[in-house]
Amino acid sequence: MKPRKLRANIYWVGAVDWDRRLFDELIPLPDGTSYNAYLVRGSEKTALIDTVDPSLANTLINNLNQLDVKNIDFVIANHAEQDHSGTLPKILKRYPNAKVIATPKCRSLLTDLLLIPENKITPVEDRETLSLGDKTIEFIHAPWVHWPETMLTYLREDKILFPCDLFGSHLATSDLYVTDEATVYEAAKRYYAEIMMPFRTVIEKNLEKVKDLHIDLIAPSHGPVYAKPEFILEAYDDWVYAPPRNVVVLAYVSMHGSTKELVRHFVGALVERGVTVKQFNLAKTDIGKLAIALVDAATIVIGSPTVLVGPHPNVVNAVYLANALKPKLKFASIIGSYGWGSRMVERITDMLSNLKVELLEPVVAKGFPKEEDLGALDRLADQILEKHKEHALMG
Ligand code: FEO
Repeated sequence: MKPRKLRANIYWVGAVDWDRRLFDELIPLPDGTSYNAYLVRGSEKTALIDTVDPSLANTLINNLNQLDVKNIDFVIANHAEQDHSGTLPKILKRYPNAKVIATPKCRSLLTDLLLIPENKITPVEDRETLSLGDKTIEFIHAPWVHWPETMLTYLREDKILFPCDLFGSHLATSDLYVTDEATVYEAAKRYYAEIMMPFRTVIEKNLEKVKDLHIDLIAPSHGPVYAKPEFILEAYDDWVYAPPRNVVVLAYVSMHGSTKELVRHFVGALVERGVTVKQFNLAKTDIGKLAIALVDAATIVIGSPTVLVGPHPNVVNAVYLANALKPKLKFASIIGSYGWGSRMVERITDMLSNLKVELLEPVVAKGFPKEEDLGALDRLADQILEKHKEHALMG
């Protein structure tokens, strides 16, 4: 895609990665992604805000060529992760006079990760400004969204916030701006769930800083630009601040049908009681969908058969992620089955240490579930309903 004009002398010069399907060899990208870089031409100086993933370095270089960019004075590195900084070495080679602008922490990471000489990088303090002539850039330190070195860049005269990963969405699209709000909402929520949610309490503080700014555009480094900033700011308010909802996430694996029978009965019992269930078969599910569901859920119930005494490995993977993502969950339980012996419940419980949840009585069947197991599931469903009512989550 060619460079695209955002405002007078401000251009999107990034790259759309339509075909990428995995990030960090971990996170599914069902809709691809983009690496957005922006060129800002002031009356005296020119700045490039972030670069692109090194796999698409030539796209950025071509975009700069198309705009006939002969000189770059500053390359602003909001974030050291390689999908935004990885083309810095090539940019510095092509524009040898350019200085990299970064937080002090980012300077040290860029030196470590990309071997950029320290003297090429000028550190900036929180709220420091940089003049491009008729345009002023303000740097806002925002550590832990989602690395410790991150900052946001605010272009004062044009009221544009360049927040890098924050507010982003993994979405490859030919739209420069958000047009299909439902699609972008889903992609941005997936992005928040997978990348930002573990830092929810820090993000609260950073959102307060953003609320002090007059913002006309939010131009993140992944996904389309927000011409209506309130669309994504209100979504983040909900994801970060709102209490969890009357939702049970039921994540399970079944090998021979016993755990599946427990799941079938339990889902019916919860729905009968007015509790919303989001059910995920971990042998098949997109873990991004599971992460999205965890943003709002009050309760997680994990279903597992017993494999070599412990939980199924796919369950281990999902529980590890749920624990690492630190969602707002308040309650947890475990259901499952075994043939001759099991420490499945203890091992899953040990993996939930990050979650501030009350553990509700697990239900584990020996072999195929019998009447007493189904009765225990009904009691667990009663208990979940009571807990959700006590915490005023029924909406
Ligand atoms: Fe899009 Fe944290 O990199």
